[in-house]
Amino acid sequence: METKLLSNSENDLNIAAEIIRSGGTVVFPTETVYGLGADALNPDAVKKIFTAKGRPADNPLIVHIYDVKQLNEIVSEVPESAKKLMDKFWPGPLTIILKKSNKIRNEVTAGLDTVGVRMPVQSEAKRLLELSGVPIAAPSANLSGKPSPTAFAHCVDDMNGRVDAIIDGGDCNVGIESTVIDLSGEPIIYRPGDVTTEQIEQILNCKVKTVSEVKENEKPKSPGLKYKHYSPKAEVIIIKGSVEEVVNCVNGQKDRCGILIFDEFSSELNKKISPNIEIISLGSMKSPKEAASSLFKALREMDNRGVKRVFAPEIPSTDKWSGVRNRLYRAAGNRIVDAKNYFEKSKNH
Ligand code: TXA
Ligand code: MG
Repeated sequence: METKLLSNSENDLNIAAEIIRSGGTVVFPTETVYGLGADALNPDAVKKIFTAKGRPADNPLIVHIYDVKQLNEIVSEVPESAKKLMDKFWPGPLTIILKKSNKIRNEVTAGLDTVGVRMPVQSEAKRLLELSGVPIAAPSANLSGKPSPTAFAHCVDDMNGRVDAIIDGGDCNVGIESTVIDLSGEPIIYRPGDVTTEQIEQILNCKVKTVSEVKENEKPKSPGLKYKHYSPKAEVIIIKGSVEEVVNCVNGQKDRCGILIFDEFSSELNKKISPNIEIISLGSMKSPKEAASSLFKALREMDNRGVKRVFAPEIPSTDKWSGVRNRLYRAAGNRIVDAKNYFEKSKNH
């Protein structure tokens, strides 16, 4: 398939909208990550998304809108709690799961009777939705299992030849996918993100559970929870220990390695880590937003630099860091090692 590489000009957005209306697929920028979109009301178009991504058919898609008036063709009811969150956080990085309408077919929801809806704030996304005139179903535009794309180049790497068009909207601001909250029953957060639990609880005026892990053999209420996610080709390992221990561990590896760090350690580590180790900073330890916007880019960059193993810092288990922690720890398959032991074990091999 030939993929049109489009700019974010009005003319190119019109071309993209025409592709959506005629049942094709378009990769487009949002404030969180790039999405791989198709007309949410056209089951054949929606199927193309799953093929392009190599996504399991049992993992449902998020439906994107630009105006709340589109809600009545997508969901069967909007509870008061959802209205409150929409008022506060839309347009923006929050997906709300509600009972679906009859117009939304099983291809979108993977057979569930609920549907995730989101109104992005990014200007190209809004304009594309408006010009298309239809709700757009879109998962993140990565090949299934890879880190979500947060730059045009990531989308071209993953999707060139697999979709009808890719729109260049520059780098994504937020950098991790939207917060997902289920309001079709008792409120549950399935995926932490830029909109934090605390912010949601403040608006809903009640405690909200988060379920972002499922145990083996358990059927998750949000199918995405059971899939391994966000992994670069390199093995990712969370490493704990003193700076000294981490330096020894990383310098002692035989394979080509990389390390993700925070700016605060940059000058010290630059002096101590051997020059053949790739170092990429996630920004300041004080800024979860900065880390979110650089995380997926950093993981992809480690692959480009050809490293076999990436060591990453522990992330605080606080509400503000939960989005970054969730993505990074899932990329690591939750593997956390002690720098001292890991070094000794790998030496003994
Ligand atoms: O920021 C985002 O949300 C991006 C941009 C493109 O909007 N989209 C995105 O989509 O991350 P995706 O498909 O990669 O992740 C959607 C997650 C999946 O884990 C899926 O299982 C869950 O939301 N999900 C979608 N619909 C659901 C539903 N009806 N019930 C439970 N979980 C649902
Ligand atoms: Mg995804």
